[in-house]
Amino acid sequence: MRIKYTIPVVFLVALVIIEKESNIISRVSDKMASKQTPQTPVQPGVSSSAVRRQNASVASLGKLSSAVTLMNRCLDNHSDYQATASGRKHILLLATTRTGSSFVGEFFNQQGDNMFYLFEPLWHVEKMLTLETGGTNATAAAKAYREVLRQLFLCDFSLLESFIDPLPVDHITASLFRRESSSSLCREAVCSPFVKGVFERYHCRSRRCGPLNLTLASESCLRKEHRAIKSVRVRQLETLRPLVEDRRLDVKFIQLVRDPRAVLASRMVAFAAKYKNWKQWATDGDVPIDDDEVKKLKGNCDTIRMSAKVGLKRPAWLRGRYMLVRYEDIARFPMRKAGEMYKFTGIPFTPQVKAWILKNTRASKETSGVYSTKKNSSEQVEKWRFTLPFKIAQVVQEVCGPTLTLFGYKSVTSKEMLMDKSISLIEDKVFDFL
Ligand SMILES: *[C@@H]1O[C@H](CO)[C@@H](O)[C@H](O)[C@H]1NC(C)=O
Ligand SMILES: *[C@@H]1O[C@H](CO)[C@@H](O)[C@H](O)[C@H]1NC(C)=O
Ligand SMILES: *[C@@H]1O[C@H](CO)[C@@H](O)[C@H](O)[C@H]1NC(C)=O
Ligand SMILES: *[C@@H]1O[C@H](CO)[C@@H](O)[C@H](O)[C@H]1NC(C)=O
Ligand SMILES: *[C@@H]1O[C@H](CO)[C@@H](O)[C@H](O)[C@H]1NC(C)=O
Repeated sequence: MRIKYTIPVVFLVALVIIEKESNIISRVSDKMASKQTPQTPVQPGVSSSAVRRQNASVASLGKLSSAVTLMNRCLDNHSDYQATASGRKHILLLATTRTGSSFVGEFFNQQGDNMFYLFEPLWHVEKMLTLETGGTNATAAAKAYREVLRQLFLCDFSLLESFIDPLPVDHITASLFRRESSSSLCREAVCSPFVKGVFERYHCRSRRCGPLNLTLASESCLRKEHRAIKSVRVRQLETLRPLVEDRRLDVKFIQLVRDPRAVLASRMVAFAAKYKNWKQWATDGDVPIDDDEVKKLKGNCDTIRMSAKVGLKRPAWLRGRYMLVRYEDIARFPMRKAGEMYKFTGIPFTPQVKAWILKNTRASKETSGVYSTKKNSSEQVEKWRFTLPFKIAQVVQEVCGPTLTLFGYKSVTSKEMLMDKSISLIEDKVFDFL
């Protein structure tokens, strides 16, 4: 009899603690907000209210994670509340830009009625935390990303809301980034009546909806069996460890990687303005190896390799929770790789997903835009070999050497080898995930 009551009581205590903590959070935020005077020096390009909210959001994060830690400790003794018991999975697709993550994200977006899928929700967090230098404070950003992900996996949008600019009113926003890329946010249940005169840039395409009601989104999310989020913003897998330790979650990480030479070639097209130095070097045939841009490339490669190394070492905390996939393998064998990914997550590989893959890996060239997910994938995967100059490929090989080796991408030694399609640059490599 006693144990029957203990569990609800412990749960209630935990809730009360969290409630109290969030009161503190809002008081802290209010205080921080009211402290500001209109004379606050404003960073160029960032509104003062954005800076204020950035500060308040960051301040509230610390409180939030301590509340979560406390609750975890309380729940530790009661495995009944562990997510594993419910079979609910929380999938995080981790990638970097131009690695085919939109395409791979569709594998989960198309799963059907059992899945709540979110496309790049952390875009808002990164935008809000971007400093005048153009970068972010990596420590602060990592923490914010993690806590927003934690809440979203629990169908709570409140922390994300604090990063949306303009701030949602009554949980309604017309500004959610790429809403239409999450089919979960455009379903009937999340579609409020269309409002004339309200502009929503990323409005639903599948049906005519009013601005997004995040309360509806949250309710819909709670009804779904599984949840998946795609993000190109998390830099270090290790920063997400607290999510694995959160008893309410059963997290599965899928890290998607792609040949850095192909990624660079793709970025030079997609982000032409940002990559104009590279374009210049490509034309000149000369790359200043100690340039900041080259150092940034090296930094990116190192970051990806370090996360993968953590995962591939299979530490106890990640056992059964980490899978590495190469975009090239998905492009060449989409059905097989999707099947493996679903097997890893423990979620049924539905006929809808299979149909989507069939349809979208055989599409012809005409449909492909810059952000298109429709492509003849096995053809696309080698295209960079004819657009990236050999000189640039060499530079990537030089600064990303260990990354190429770890993922099994072969270096080229001549222009002829680069452009000879009969020579595969992808070594067969199996990355165990169990
Ligand atoms: C943000 O916080 C920092 C220190 O935490 C402070 O120096 C700065 O003035 C704050 N800015 C605003 C606009 O609140
Ligand atoms: C969990 O159980 C252990 C042993 O039964 C006990 O010592 C510990 O205090 C409990 N922790 C909590 C938070 O209830
Ligand atoms: C980054 O943020 C953390 C905490 O949020 C702070 O302790 C640290 O000083 C910041 N670093 C820089 C370089 O601003
Ligand atoms: C948003 O959805 C909630 C839950 O159904 C509802 O109570 C609320 O009135 C909706 N808000 C608006 C502005 O329609
Ligand atoms: C896709 O591209 C590959 C390689 O170029 C080619 O063999 C295949 O026939 C193409 N498929 C379609 C449907 O265009």
